[in-house]
Amino acid sequence: GGSTSEDGTTKLVGGTEATFAPFESMDDNGNIVGIDVDVLNAISEEMDFDYELKNIGWEPVFSQITTGEIDFGAAGITITDERKESYDFTDPYFESTLLIVVPEDNTSITSVEDLKDKKVSVQINSTSHEAAKKILGQTNPDILAYENQPLAIQDVINGTADAALGDNAVLIEYMKNNPDAPIKTIEDDSFEKEYYGLMVKKGNEEVLNLLNDGLKKIKENGKLAEITGQEIE
Ligand code: ARG
Repeated sequence: GGSTSEDGTTKLVGGTEATFAPFESMDDNGNIVGIDVDVLNAISEEMDFDYELKNIGWEPVFSQITTGEIDFGAAGITITDERKESYDFTDPYFESTLLIVVPEDNTSITSVEDLKDKKVSVQINSTSHEAAKKILGQTNPDILAYENQPLAIQDVINGTADAALGDNAVLIEYMKNNPDAPIKTIEDDSFEKEYYGLMVKKGNEEVLNLLNDGLKKIKENGKLAEITGQEIE
C-alpha cells in the first residue's frame, strides 16, 4: 500500500464520509475539515508523508480499502472485534460512546430498554446499527438504516423514527450546529466505551506502521490531546 512520488515521498490515499462533524465535514470551500483531518495532518507531518483524503461515503470506505483503491480509512471508525477480522487498526485516538436522540418533548424514552418496541434510525453498518440490532433484534424492520448520521437524525425530527442512535461527540456537535432542531439526547450507561482508530487493509503493515508510529508521536508530544481535547492511552 501507498505509492511513492518522484521525490521519494510516500503518498497515501484515504477515504472518509464527511457528514460527521466534528470529525469530518465539508467547509464552504469544499474542503474536508475536522478532528480526523487535524490528526492526519499532524501524523503526516511527523512521519513526512503526503496524503489525500477523499469523501467517498461510509460503506465505500470499507469496500475500497478491501479492493486497494484507498490505503486507509479516517472516519471516526470504531475499532471492533468484527472489523478486526477484515481490517487492521492503529491504536485508538478518540474515546466515544453512543447516545439516544429523541424529540425534545418526548417523555416515554429514557433508556435503551424503552427502544425495544420503537422505530429507531441509525447510520448503516455503524456501531449504532449493531446496537439497534441487539436491542430490537437482528432483522427488525423498525430499524431504519441510512447512509449517514444526519439522515438518521432527520427521521426523528420529521417523526419517521421515534429515536436515533449515534456517537456522542457527533450528536452533541449536531445540536450545537442546529440549535433549533427539536431534539434532545439521552445517555445510557449500558452503552460501552468505543475507541476510534485509523483503518487499513488487513496485513498492510507498511501503511499501518506509518500511521501508528505517527500517532504514537503525537500522543507523546501532546498534539493529539490538543486536537481532540481528550487524553487517551
Ligand atoms: N463510530 C461509528 C462506527 O464506527 C460511526 C462512524 C461513522 N463515521 C462517519 N464518518 N460517518 O461505526
